[in-house]
Amino acid sequence: MHQVMALAMVCLLVAPSILRAQNPLIEDEIEAKVEALLQKMTLEEKVGQLNQHSGSWDVTGPVPAGNEYAQRRAELLKKGGVGSMLNIVGAEATYEAQKLAVENSRLGIPLIFGYDVVHGFKTIFPIPLGESASWDLKAIESSARVAAIEATASGLTWTFAPMVDVGRDPRWGRVMEGAGEDPYLGTQIALARMKGFQGDDLTDENTMMATAKHFAGYAFSESGRDYNTVDVGTTTLYNIILPPFEATAKAGIASVMNSFNDLNGIPANGDSFLQRELLKEAWGFGGFIISDWGSIRQMINHGYSKDLKQAAYHAITSGNDMDMESQAYQNHLKELVESGEVDIRIVDEAVRRVLRMKFHLGLFDDPYKYSDTDREKALLYTDEHRAIARDVAKRSIVLLKNDRSVLPIGDDVKNIAVIGHLANDKDTPLGNWRGRGESGSAVSLLEGIQNAVGSKVKVSYAEGYTMSTDDGVFNRALHFPEDDGSGFAEAIKIAKKADVVILTVGEKALQTGEGRSKVDISLTGRQLDLFNEIRKVNDNVVVVLMAGRPIVEPELYEQSTTLLNTFHLGTEAGNAIADVLFGKYNPSGKLTMSIPRAIGQIPVYYNHKSAGRPSPGPGDEGSVFWSHFNDEENTPQYPFGYGISYTTFEYSAPELSGSTMGMNETVEVSVDVTNTGDFDGEEVVQFYIRDRFASTMRPVQELKGFEKVMIKKGETKTITFTIDKETLSFYTHKGEWVAEPGMFSIMIGGSSDNVQMVELELLD
Ligand code: NOJ
Repeated sequence: MHQVMALAMVCLLVAPSILRAQNPLIEDEIEAKVEALLQKMTLEEKVGQLNQHSGSWDVTGPVPAGNEYAQRRAELLKKGGVGSMLNIVGAEATYEAQKLAVENSRLGIPLIFGYDVVHGFKTIFPIPLGESASWDLKAIESSARVAAIEATASGLTWTFAPMVDVGRDPRWGRVMEGAGEDPYLGTQIALARMKGFQGDDLTDENTMMATAKHFAGYAFSESGRDYNTVDVGTTTLYNIILPPFEATAKAGIASVMNSFNDLNGIPANGDSFLQRELLKEAWGFGGFIISDWGSIRQMINHGYSKDLKQAAYHAITSGNDMDMESQAYQNHLKELVESGEVDIRIVDEAVRRVLRMKFHLGLFDDPYKYSDTDREKALLYTDEHRAIARDVAKRSIVLLKNDRSVLPIGDDVKNIAVIGHLANDKDTPLGNWRGRGESGSAVSLLEGIQNAVGSKVKVSYAEGYTMSTDDGVFNRALHFPEDDGSGFAEAIKIAKKADVVILTVGEKALQTGEGRSKVDISLTGRQLDLFNEIRKVNDNVVVVLMAGRPIVEPELYEQSTTLLNTFHLGTEAGNAIADVLFGKYNPSGKLTMSIPRAIGQIPVYYNHKSAGRPSPGPGDEGSVFWSHFNDEENTPQYPFGYGISYTTFEYSAPELSGSTMGMNETVEVSVDVTNTGDFDGEEVVQFYIRDRFASTMRPVQELKGFEKVMIKKGETKTITFTIDKETLSFYTHKGEWVAEPGMFSIMIGGSSDNVQMVELELLD
């Protein structure tokens, strides 16, 4: 305990000067106001600022009569015993709760209202994994911007997003909330989302605090089982997991949420290396750290803290500032300070961070400015927001196959059969974590198609296979209802008569997300059987795969001829998919997470290291003594960066402005990309490197840049990336950021598995 305390104190002493130098959240004027207020606060009031509670009421009126839980919370609010509430939503409800805190407590310190605004608030955007497939940072920022406009008009000042966990395991249901498997792309997307939520000025009435979560390693839970233990080496931690946290912390993200897992034996809430040494000290993070729901208390289950009091001790001394619903600080922090076990300066540091953000939000000037019913009425679910949602959704769609050029569907098509439960499902497109998106409010694919064709084309629908409506809402859905195939006949009948069949398969909204880990991520029920029956009777089957994670189903990928991966696309899903089906938009998305061939391959990801025996030696092809599976390929079904278009792009060989580079020089790599097909289209030009030999093994490929560019048919564009020392640097196994002289392969292409290469030497 003493060592932890000593370290904490060292950090406290060095942190402010580092912070001042680095972090955009540190402003002298605000710091002075924070200090002045802190001086006035009693210990009890200080502890109060570090508690976050969930409101079980989001209706108008101060507190619903007869709700004891809410009554108790109200009493705490009145005493200044709460720093933030989560799950109180709406201009009126937040107004009433704010009033309790501001008008009754001695110092009248306002509350921050937090909520999971993950991919939209009322207007729902694609799930983050889907949105990441757009590789379109402007579109991604605009979706977070709209979410912030709507959420702040409903009284919220803080979102628990973006989730920046780089994930490699699709069994983990929360991959739907992230940006896929790559730390570079994940970092760019995290910054874009943070910008969308926080804007340029947090005092604006339509900007809100963002949260980088979950710090750290949550996506690496063993076997993809949610909340499970995490054990990763230093190079993976530094180079894969931490980059989006480091970048957002340095760019001024307002909060960081730690994670449910332990990392190498230390629960994240109690990890002073992560929270103090790295986040607060080395990266100069200026916001505050919030625990995840009940996670301080869970350190007892981890076998790390012997009771709640010790859990509170572990959390506060290791740098966790605010307690979400563990009630560890509320019940024990005062006592820990009074007994001398926790130095008051540690508490002060945490309180300072919370107050700092309240000043940044402008809450002391007007605690009610976000709770404006007129704005709430005017700004939610507007036509403009829905148009942006449709635009982002269409950009997120990935075309995996178009072998017979069935897409885009032309005017010659007069009869379309739409098949599958998911095609007529107005709820699934909203995905998990749908904020205040109203159940069943999305445009279904069937509706989208009808909207697109009007009466010109005959559109018939058959459900085909069944899916339960509430699989896994809060219950474990271990067994899906048996489907007796009684819907097949009707589906086959309409498929036979159709010029084109649109067949949907995938997952329902709540089959992915938190607590929805699965060992079997193939299609459930009779979906594959139906696919096989339909393709027997019609050659023009367009498969639309709607899911929250990569689905493992080799037969579907191999036997289909036309395949769109659409994820869960949000409110405007059906219209956006129709835009692509009928060629109003030429698909431009690229996968951000590899699709495995087999569940037993997991994890399969593009930026892996090279094994010592990566391939059979020459003439040794029959040998088993190299790194492979005896029953499956090593490669994924579809790799990171993959996605095709209605047009085709040809790449020239990349050219370097010099074949050597000094440490402080830059070199440019350029490539000509020509649109050789019949449609205008956007291409995501991807730039990767490989450090050939290094003091710590480096991956066979690492994304270092990309550009999404519109190229008209017949046109050629030159794309240039600049390489500098930073591009070639990495964290060693000791956590040191270095660039080492030597040879690098520079690769450019339209997918991680389709690149051309040139060599560059970094000189000493
Ligand atoms: C638990 C989740 O892990 C976290 O991401 C979320 O923000 C909180 N619950 C609050 O809802």
